[in-house]
Amino acid sequence: MFTANDFIPTSYSQSIESGNFQWSAPSNIALVKYWGKKDNQIPANPSVSFTLNNCKTITKLAFEKKHFDKLSVTDSKFSFDLLFEGKPKEAFKPKIQKFFERIEIYLPFLKDYHFTIDTENTFPHSSGIASSASGMAALAMNLMSLEKALNPAITDDYFHQKASLLARLGSGSACRSVKGEVVVWGNQANIEGSSDLFGVEFPYNIHENFKNYQDTILLVDKGEKQVSSTVGHDLMHDHPFAERRFAQAHENLDKLIAIFENGNLEEFIKIVESEALTLHAMMMTSMPYYILMKPNTLQIINAIWKFRNETQIPVCFTLDAGANVHVLYPNKNKETILQFIKDELVGFCQNGQYLCDEIGTGAMLL
Ligand code: PMV
Repeated sequence: MFTANDFIPTSYSQSIESGNFQWSAPSNIALVKYWGKKDNQIPANPSVSFTLNNCKTITKLAFEKKHFDKLSVTDSKFSFDLLFEGKPKEAFKPKIQKFFERIEIYLPFLKDYHFTIDTENTFPHSSGIASSASGMAALAMNLMSLEKALNPAITDDYFHQKASLLARLGSGSACRSVKGEVVVWGNQANIEGSSDLFGVEFPYNIHENFKNYQDTILLVDKGEKQVSSTVGHDLMHDHPFAERRFAQAHENLDKLIAIFENGNLEEFIKIVESEALTLHAMMMTSMPYYILMKPNTLQIINAIWKFRNETQIPVCFTLDAGANVHVLYPNKNKETILQFIKDELVGFCQNGQYLCDEIGTGAMLL
């Protein structure tokens, strides 16, 4: 069993002046949802997600060693520039500053360098798709590349576990964006290697039915959320249903182990849709209570149910903390479902926008 202390380095064998790396990291969509956390981004319950393939962040990290004649004040500060799509973006800097503060203990070299972080997303800006998962994962991978350069002895396992641990400290669900295709985060008794500290690849068999599983993201509302995820997680602390909900997540994850193995899509759908609605039920039963779904979210859900009833095609939905709908379906039904989306669901999307994605393999060095 790992502890966070296992990821605090003692010394580095190499010294490096300057250089750069570039990584892409994808978004992910949770099937069993993470909602509620303890200190240090430790999840209140385990979650499991499909790693996506097309919605990703590409981040280049350039670094240059600072030089000081004698200790100066700047030496004790993080130093970085942040570019978004090639242009300076001051608004993103506080998030990175906070991230650096949280991970400094794990990456003691952070204050030795000046960094230029140049980042962009493959999905449209302000599409309502959260870029924090892919963004934090891409940055964490770059930082681990630098650590690997300083200490070439670290293993691949350590590299990925620590990248996921760092990403988690940036944004919880980001820890599931390092690897693919199915990632578990959080201690679950019968999933070997599962950990609260980082995401791990689902270690058991996954049925053919889930190969190239499709996720079409319907953009229902691109506006700013009324209640952030941070506040939402926090509201689980005094939530009347919290304990039961956390237990339910364990039960659902347990059921998914068998479902991934036997490919039973009917049972898969029951868990995935129930998890999505439970997540939103937690929001609606928090104090203060709130609703992130929009009328068109419900229109889409009802249209999916009607279509599934009529055709028996195993298409289902899930939601994250917003109004957008993820439509999940097997690859072999792709043509039919895309036609259904064009015919019946596009009208519920803001400006008719949707994004086609599918299960993917995780972060990549470019
Ligand atoms: O990673 P955060 O703190 O933004 O939380 C995201 C939580 C959900 O997307 C709603 C669920 C999940 O497991 O991804």
